[in-house]
Amino acid sequence: MRLSAAVLCALVAVQAALLLAAVPSAQAGELEVGYYSKKCKGVENVVKWHIIKALKANRRTGAALIRLLFHDCFVRGCDGSVLLDASYENPHPEKEAPVNIGLAAFDLLEEIKASVEKRCPEVVSCSDILIYAARDAASILSNGNVHFDVPAGRLDGFVSKADEAQAELPDSIHDVKQLIENFAKKNFTVEELVILSGAHAIGQGHCSSFTGRLTEPASQITPAYRDLLNYKCSQGSNPPVVNNVRDEDYGVVARFMPGFTSRVRKIPDFLDNSYYHNNLAKIVTFHSDWTLLTHKEALGHVHEYADNGTLWDEDFADSLVKLSKLPMPAGSKGEIRKKCSVINHRLY
Ligand code: HEM
Repeated sequence: MRLSAAVLCALVAVQAALLLAAVPSAQAGELEVGYYSKKCKGVENVVKWHIIKALKANRRTGAALIRLLFHDCFVRGCDGSVLLDASYENPHPEKEAPVNIGLAAFDLLEEIKASVEKRCPEVVSCSDILIYAARDAASILSNGNVHFDVPAGRLDGFVSKADEAQAELPDSIHDVKQLIENFAKKNFTVEELVILSGAHAIGQGHCSSFTGRLTEPASQITPAYRDLLNYKCSQGSNPPVVNNVRDEDYGVVARFMPGFTSRVRKIPDFLDNSYYHNNLAKIVTFHSDWTLLTHKEALGHVHEYADNGTLWDEDFADSLVKLSKLPMPAGSKGEIRKKCSVINHRLY
């Protein structure tokens, strides 16, 4: 479609005016538990209702939401930047970064946003909805053991760049030194790196995310588990494989790790400290998980959380709250998006 110069000028002027109307982003200290209690009464229950329904239909969605929280907040703070779709103005948003392979649950968040918009138009940000959703998912998947209040009042950002996501997020081929440096840049300690990695008790990863593991020596990966992963990865073109072997098909576990069959679960994706037991037994998928065992302090924390599941539940909740407070870059502006995948001025 061709636009005349006058129409183009008018469109640019409208977009500029809308951007000027954007408000400066709230900083971490200004976030507040119960932020919407007057502005949009009951919004947390609306989100919870959708998450209960979605996880009943497919429990796997819970893992996707928890990962989304991490991937949103680690890049430009928690500003919903990971939710934005490609557009003419921004052809390569965060979603397209290779490190964001497998991200999911975008449609669910859009569905929740639509019902929140009906109740209170242009009041609740997508970034807050994502944190509420991930909080509820963590609570459901842990049978209520991981629970926390969400300080809210975030704004949705305007910027989303694949290059930035690729540079800021950790990679599964990283070694412990790189992971520690990566987390330190966001002011997270070695202990918090170990605590948050425990999220790999649930969900799945594509074979391309652990290609290197398939040939690692027995000192780094239990050979029977390596054989299981090799078998799973031979079954398709880059198929996803569950992160926690107890969520694997019974028949596959019986074939490759018969001693493990009693631990196979009928209900997958239970969020607990099993990641630490798996890690010590060298039955984790990612090199980045195994590498925690090669650092004295990190290894100490792996043992600590393997021994104390209740402590992990509490510390994991605290670390998710800390993640959820990562602010947008200083001076950034934000808005309350009407749709989570699109910046408002592109809706006109
Ligand atoms: C320490 C650095 C981390 C690395 C290198 C890493 C890497 C990965 C990779 C490669 C995948 C699989 C992607 C795919 O192939 O589809 C994955 C999945 C996952 N990660 Fe991480 N991750 C890290 C930390 C975290 C943290 C901090 C959280 C949350 C608190 C998290 C939560 C998850 C979850 C829940 C999944 C499964 C997602 C699903 O099933 O949809 N990860 N991670």
